[in-house]
Amino acid sequence: MSTMQSDIGLVGLAVMGQNLALNIADHGFRISVYNRTRETTEKFVAENPSTPGGIQGCASLEELVGSLKRPRKIILLVKAGAPTDSVINSLVPLLEPGDILIDGGNAHWMDTIRRERDLRAKGLRFIGSGVSGGEEGARWGPSLMPGGEYAAWKEIEPIWTAIAAKVDPATGKPLTGASPGKPIQGGVPCTTYIGPDGAGHYVKMVHNGIEYADMQMICEAYALMSGVLGMTPEECSEIFAEWNRGLLDSFLIEITADILRQKDPVTGKPFVEVVLDTAGQKGTGKWTSVNALDLGTPAPTIAEAVFARYLSAVKEERVEASKVLTGPSSSFAGDRKAFIQAIHDALYCSKICAYAQGFQLLQAAEKEYNWKLPLGEIAKIFRGGCIIRARFLQKITEAYERNPQLKNLLLDPYFKNALDSAQANWRMVVASAAQHGVPAPSFYSALAYYDGYRSERLPANLLQAQRDYFGAHTYERVDAPRGKFFHLDWPEPGRPQLEV
Ligand code: 6PG
Repeated sequence: MSTMQSDIGLVGLAVMGQNLALNIADHGFRISVYNRTRETTEKFVAENPSTPGGIQGCASLEELVGSLKRPRKIILLVKAGAPTDSVINSLVPLLEPGDILIDGGNAHWMDTIRRERDLRAKGLRFIGSGVSGGEEGARWGPSLMPGGEYAAWKEIEPIWTAIAAKVDPATGKPLTGASPGKPIQGGVPCTTYIGPDGAGHYVKMVHNGIEYADMQMICEAYALMSGVLGMTPEECSEIFAEWNRGLLDSFLIEITADILRQKDPVTGKPFVEVVLDTAGQKGTGKWTSVNALDLGTPAPTIAEAVFARYLSAVKEERVEASKVLTGPSSSFAGDRKAFIQAIHDALYCSKICAYAQGFQLLQAAEKEYNWKLPLGEIAKIFRGGCIIRARFLQKITEAYERNPQLKNLLLDPYFKNALDSAQANWRMVVASAAQHGVPAPSFYSALAYYDGYRSERLPANLLQAQRDYFGAHTYERVDAPRGKFFHLDWPEPGRPQLEV
């Protein structure tokens, strides 16, 4: 057993854990690792004998804790929920006041608030850190969203800034080209202190909600290309590749182009055509939507993306329904190139709305949970490493630099102009989707959100009158101050109207 003390420890050597450990060791930090199955630890250490920082395998949690410099810092990368609590409970008796546990999983932020509070009562510190970027991100640079006590963050900051993805300070573009033992030098790290207790995991959850919307919107663009224009996956791939060189340049568009080009090794058919059309999920998009409902904040496009996954999941029912229910049988007779450009614009405008909703939700959460979320910094750390990384995030970063108090992204001059110039195409695509019977719920809902948000007057006046009619729920008047409520003594249904 080595007597050299490690800078940090890590529990949970699934792929994410292994990759994060390698990333940390590549940056010259010595890391101790522990996995429940001893063979996994031994194999991992044996396979990585010479990293710059060094990796020490530990056969028990006691050994792991004993191998760390004080205050001890231990990353947990185990399954969210009960497994996380169980590891925490096993570690607590081994720790000393001031030690820091860091949960890097996709934990529910309320669990993080609870864990932080419980551990604080024991003199321990708890950081809930969102980690985005999947396996590749963990290895070469994820986007990291830490929340918890500020002083605890300062303890882990050197490691977090070293291992995070880096972007070019001038363009906001992710820096690439890291290889084993040779991490990226320089650049702006994609991590920042998010806020107390559950703030980091909350922001990660909203990141995932936006990720759901982004993915669904791309799928709708693909559905329109194939459903309306009859394009093959390969043809769609070329369009996505082209879009990836413009405004829509992003990780998800890039991988979509790759996926649509891929052939199935078994049948030789386009790979997407052999994949069953039922989407899975682990719940973070649902949490985002439920929380938007709880906080009374409109996030319809994110919620539609979750519902679209649910609808996809009832495959057998849809197959039966497809034999019974009919739709339009229109064929496309317009300019194909122009329609593809219109889909591009619809995707771009809908994307702006989904991000506007996500950032609006962050603002609502600030009030609800007593946080001060650094919205501009959050946009910055989403520019690299994470799943939603995109050129677009540079524009959001600039929007918050222009106006840190920005109420809604739609109101930023850059996005306002983008919506002004692209919305005719967006409306045309939504209408065409309806006309051709191609479901495009996130495009529709984003447009309805846009039109709703920009409406000085909505039909909620009628709604309030209905509520007052059947339940005496009262209403406010246009000619009275806000907050003053009235009730009309309605006649019985069907009776003559009240005299004026
Ligand atoms: C990330 C991702 C990741 C998430 C997957 C799967 O930022 O790296 O958001 O954390 O777990 O994308 O999510 P679903 O299974 O819910 O689609």
